[in-house]
Amino acid sequence: MSFETRLKETARQVDQMLEHLLPVRGAAAPRVIEAMRYSSIGQGKRLRPFFVRESSALFDVDPTRALRVGTALECVHCYSLVHDDLPAMDDDDLRRGKPTAHIAYDEATAILAGDGLLTFAFEILADPETHPDADIRAELVLHLARAAGADGMVGGQMLDLQAETSATPLKLDDIVKLQAMKTGALFRYSLEAGAILGRAAPDERRALVGYSEKVGLAFQIADDLLDAEGDEVVTGKRTGKDDAAGKATFVQLLGVEGARNRARELVAEASALLERFGARGDMLREAANFIVERKS
Ligand code: IPE
Ligand code: IPE
Ligand code: MG
Ligand code: MG
Ligand code: MG
Repeated sequence: MSFETRLKETARQVDQMLEHLLPVRGAAAPRVIEAMRYSSIGQGKRLRPFFVRESSALFDVDPTRALRVGTALECVHCYSLVHDDLPAMDDDDLRRGKPTAHIAYDEATAILAGDGLLTFAFEILADPETHPDADIRAELVLHLARAAGADGMVGGQMLDLQAETSATPLKLDDIVKLQAMKTGALFRYSLEAGAILGRAAPDERRALVGYSEKVGLAFQIADDLLDAEGDEVVTGKRTGKDDAAGKATFVQLLGVEGARNRARELVAEASALLERFGARGDMLREAANFIVERKS
């Protein structure tokens, strides 16, 4: 199966899983469920669930287990987008080609929908349907909590916002650290999850983590490039905002060409780390290329 087909199939499976897990009928507070569905079903590349799927496939993990973990991770990602778009953060009105959650609903509902998606992720992971072994479930929960929290995505978002008003511009190393937390941590989890589910050997797990760190950074550089030169109709979100807001990015520091070159180098380095998986790593190699060359 080609990379494009696998990614599309993953997106469809994630939608089906969310439809199944988030019914409005019978909900005690339907409005928040509707806003959670609005923010999670229907669009999105679903790259993080794709990486959970592919890292799991390396160890012949039951695909339904991988899909549940990927869906949980996607819930955390969707929550991060809802909150990232709020007026107090990036103040955006367009996401995935539609009005952002706080525009379609209202701010309070968007905040609660984000909270609902975040907590729901842990409900999915802790459910015995995700894995019969409680130790594996606990490890999945522990690592997602770390990736999403103050030393991971939340901390990175804090540094991103602080950089907007900082008197001294961030250096390259600071931006690498910021992006590793803001975006890299959830990517790292998407590859570590397969290793956890598949009880991978420590060196296999290290190889996947190494790959994820390079790919996560390349992914955020590509996102920053799309902000600088992408098309709003194709990206489904506003562009040209990072520079105006004074965001600390690779593009701001290295320029468009310098940032693109760095992203391509990272992809080559990431692919090299997959050597031990031989041809089984091909899907991950293709994914790394897609990440820097994508238009949305
Ligand atoms: C956008 O992520 C937010 C960042 C972490 C840069 P994606 O580009 O994966 O967004 P969707 O899920 O496809 O909409
Ligand atoms: C957001 O980074 C990363 C998150 C943790 C949500 P951006 O603010 O650059 O993401 P977009 O460009 O709005 O999707
Ligand atoms: Mg942001
Ligand atoms: Mg943003
Ligand atoms: Mg961006």
